[in-house]
Amino acid sequence: MRKKVSIIGGGNVGASAAQLLAHDGIADVVLFDIAEGMPQGKALDMAEACPLWNSSVSVKGTNSYRDTEKSDVIVITAGIPRKPGMSRDDLLKTNAEVVKSVAAETSKLSPDAVVIVVTNPMDVMAYVACKTSGCNHRKVLGMGGILDSARFRTFISFELGVSPSDVEALVMGGHGDQMVPMPRYTTIKGVPITKILPPEKIAPLIERTRNGGAEIVSLLKTGSAYYAPAAATCQMIRAILFDEKRILPCAVYLEGQYGVRDIYVGVPAVLGARGIEKVIELELNEEERADFDRSVSAVKALLEKITV
Ligand code: NAI
Ligand code: 2OP
Repeated sequence: MRKKVSIIGGGNVGASAAQLLAHDGIADVVLFDIAEGMPQGKALDMAEACPLWNSSVSVKGTNSYRDTEKSDVIVITAGIPRKPGMSRDDLLKTNAEVVKSVAAETSKLSPDAVVIVVTNPMDVMAYVACKTSGCNHRKVLGMGGILDSARFRTFISFELGVSPSDVEALVMGGHGDQMVPMPRYTTIKGVPITKILPPEKIAPLIERTRNGGAEIVSLLKTGSAYYAPAAATCQMIRAILFDEKRILPCAVYLEGQYGVRDIYVGVPAVLGARGIEKVIELELNEEERADFDRSVSAVKALLEKITV
């Protein structure tokens, strides 16, 4: 039987993720949104593209949660995105209410699903989704680190004139302005970037990565990035559905790892069919530790502004 992925929020990120899944024939897709007709229209359009993509999956658009029943993966992209001048954190209160309602509905109908939270501010929203649903925290995770690492890889590839596929990068911490790109754990064909570029060349790449989301917002003017976020989300979905055991930076619930407790934040983890199967604890030097702690504090400060 084919796997089923339900995407809650049929906007830019949700529909782009649905398109990638349908195009690659990864799973049957349900696209849910509160906007009437929109998810149905986008899903029908994708279904009509399936013969051209040689894809046999089904794509259904809906305004009824009932259609999401027994999903293997639930992706939460519902909420409002950033507009110019807004930080991810400005979305906090509105999106917390949206994510609470989504998590309450989906957990009843798909209690065994792995849940990927995309809605911003993502680390806090993953916490909200986990606590509201009462799901095992290993099955609720957030997407941010893969996107931030992909941006870092891209900017490094621009700088060096090499394929981004040959660049491995790691960004840890919260998916916010205090995120922590990790040059010591960033390599080009196995060679650490710190051996290839001097610190003064790496610093602007780190800065551009931290501002990666805002750079797109300022160009688009009407919303935030969605192609790369959708691709990052689909990498997580594949890892779960195909039990790939990929090591990917995800927002996970920490229970003492990295000296942190009862919070979601981005760290490398093994991702497979059961969700987060293992948190990888890297050794951090003094500067990385300080940056990571600052990022954790930023997530905690946001969490304290809402009731969960
Ligand atoms: P969008 O505005 O295009 O789509 C959001 C959709 O959510 C809309 O279609 C809206 O009707 C729907 N929605 C609102 N309330 C809902 C509810 N209660 N139930 C179901 N659907 C509901 O926004 P976009 O660009 O798709 O971004 C979605 C979210 O993802 C935003 O919060 C954005 O900041 C976040 N994001 C996070 C990223 C990450 O790396 N974690 C990357 C990109 C976006
Ligand atoms: C991004 O990083 C807005 O979080 C979103 O593009």
